[in-house]
Amino acid sequence: MNPDKKMRLAAYYNPTGHHVASWRHPRAQADASFNIQHYVEIARTAEKAKFDLLFLADANATREAAVEAISRSVQFVAHFEPMTLLSALAMVTSKIGLVGTVSTSWNEPYHIARKFASLDHISNGRAGWNIVTSGQNAEAQNFGKDKAYGHHDRYMRAREAVKLVLGLWDSWEDDAFVIDTKSGLYYDPAKRHDLNWSTELYKVKGPLNVPRAPQGYPLLVQAGGSDDGRETAAMFAETIFSPHLNIPEAKAYYEDVKSRMLKYGRDPQHCKILPGLAVICRPTQEEADADYEYLQSLIHPIVGREMLNTMLEYKIDLTKYDLDEPFPEIPDHDGGHYASIVSMARREKLTIRQLGQRVAGARAKNVIKGSPTFIADYMQEWFDAECCDGFTIMPAYIPGALDDFCSMVVPELQRRGLFRTEYEHDTLRGHLGVPRPANQHVARNHFSGVLD
Ligand SMILES: Cc1cc2nc3c(=O)[nH]c(=O)nc-3n(C[C@H](O)[C@H](O)[C@H](O)COP(=O)(O)O)c2cc1C
Repeated sequence: MNPDKKMRLAAYYNPTGHHVASWRHPRAQADASFNIQHYVEIARTAEKAKFDLLFLADANATREAAVEAISRSVQFVAHFEPMTLLSALAMVTSKIGLVGTVSTSWNEPYHIARKFASLDHISNGRAGWNIVTSGQNAEAQNFGKDKAYGHHDRYMRAREAVKLVLGLWDSWEDDAFVIDTKSGLYYDPAKRHDLNWSTELYKVKGPLNVPRAPQGYPLLVQAGGSDDGRETAAMFAETIFSPHLNIPEAKAYYEDVKSRMLKYGRDPQHCKILPGLAVICRPTQEEADADYEYLQSLIHPIVGREMLNTMLEYKIDLTKYDLDEPFPEIPDHDGGHYASIVSMARREKLTIRQLGQRVAGARAKNVIKGSPTFIADYMQEWFDAECCDGFTIMPAYIPGALDDFCSMVVPELQRRGLFRTEYEHDTLRGHLGVPRPANQHVARNHFSGVLD
């Protein structure tokens, strides 16, 4: 049994759902990307089901793809900016955590610190920052550069940016703002701490022009599988979205990251690792399979081919072939994803259309489909194997598959004592059981081992 005893659940919201054809499903909201009422409803649905947090992915560009494919897609084409959207959602919810993705490559740390501290105040302690480093060139091209920073460079910048942001969040002690109208003292100058950060990368004087956040620091969230990614997670992450497809891989990652935390003086319990799970729950297995097959049939062949092209690293121009031709001979390659796709095509004698549909449907994530008992069994098996602290639920289409998960799987998990039936706390840190950090100028906190 996992020492935590209860699972933590994050609701991962691609606007219309995780599946590439989700927007065409009749139980999805086709215009979700720019429909605020849709977001209000799905935030309330997840809160009613007692999810720990909802999570908004983001990128600073429209996804790069051939126009004929992207004009038939929905993900990362055009959608709301997460911080403004989360601020709106803070006003129509009261418990659920609100996690937004913000890149350290394309935002100044002062902006990041300010926005998340504000969101934490606006939401009364429910803000979380998904720290991403942005690897797409299309993003760089919106910020005066031709290419994204290199992989290692991105992570080094991110580490410094996070340290700086934590410093800004400690600009004011918790009780700095005395607001004494009688004496006329607004804040206690002894409780203000200017940052005076000066390195080659960043020069930031401070203090932050927002009081200390209700959570001390908004929750730090991350996802990263590389060595640099894992080390950055070990330093800072309090929640991780991980992409593993089976228990042994998930367990190896879990143990690796949690043991890396020890060298920074961090308690492994203070980081919740939540593997992504794309779900379709229907009352019976047959209905779930049929729903998935239907969703698969909605993948436009040009979109499937484009996703296939991306995964095959454009080694061959698939647009030159007929979609219903057998998959062409292409050069061998020892890369993991590439090799497994090519061998699947050869083994099963798939056409370009069929192979495109296959890879686009799963999008390299675990797709789990079945009855509520089947899905709860699957989740329980992972949880009991101590390879995760809960899950990032990625409904295949939204709101339909989210509603199904909340009305069928959540009650089953609750019946098994695996998930809360009521919120016990008001803040995101409270839900996750991750303590509120003290101000660095007052006492050591649980990041002191990283910040020293
Ligand atoms: C579940 C999940 C969600 C992610 N969401 C985003 C996102 O919204 N925006 C983004 O730029 N990157 C996102 N990423 C990518 C990660 O930030 C990271 O770049 C990626 O996992 C590769 O990390 P690595 O280079 O350390 O292996 C996500 C990754 C995962 C697994």
